[in-house]
Amino acid sequence: MRYSEKVMEHFKNPRNVGEIKDADGIGHVGNPVCGDIMELYIKVKDNVIVDAKFKTFGCGAAVATSSMVTELVKGKTVDEALTLSNKAVAEALGGLPQIKMHCSMLAEEALKSAIDDYLKKKPAKIGEARRKK
Ligand code: FES
Repeated sequence: MRYSEKVMEHFKNPRNVGEIKDADGIGHVGNPVCGDIMELYIKVKDNVIVDAKFKTFGCGAAVATSSMVTELVKGKTVDEALTLSNKAVAEALGGLPQIKMHCSMLAEEALKSAIDDYLKKKPAKIGEARRKK
């Protein structure tokens, strides 16, 4: 099994590691195949994801796909981010060995879970902004 140079680079120097204290959406997911877990935080402004961070307790492919997904979603609208697939993340990394494709599902699911959380909280946030006016 061989990883692409890009996977190795994102594994060794992952981008956007950590958490966003005042995140607008937080996703928590676990991989049923291996038990690894991922948390993904997003900050949204005017329906655009302006920041994304992650914490992954998992294998190299999970760390690299988490890193790449946070890079890919920054600057995208929430709707655009919802269409981002695990395959697109793997392709952006120059591909993943077939046996590690399940790891990329964790990144896609963590992103969707964070967006779900954002959408659930959104009415409250709009109400909060109106109260401040
Ligand atoms: Fe668990 Fe890759 S082996 S996410």
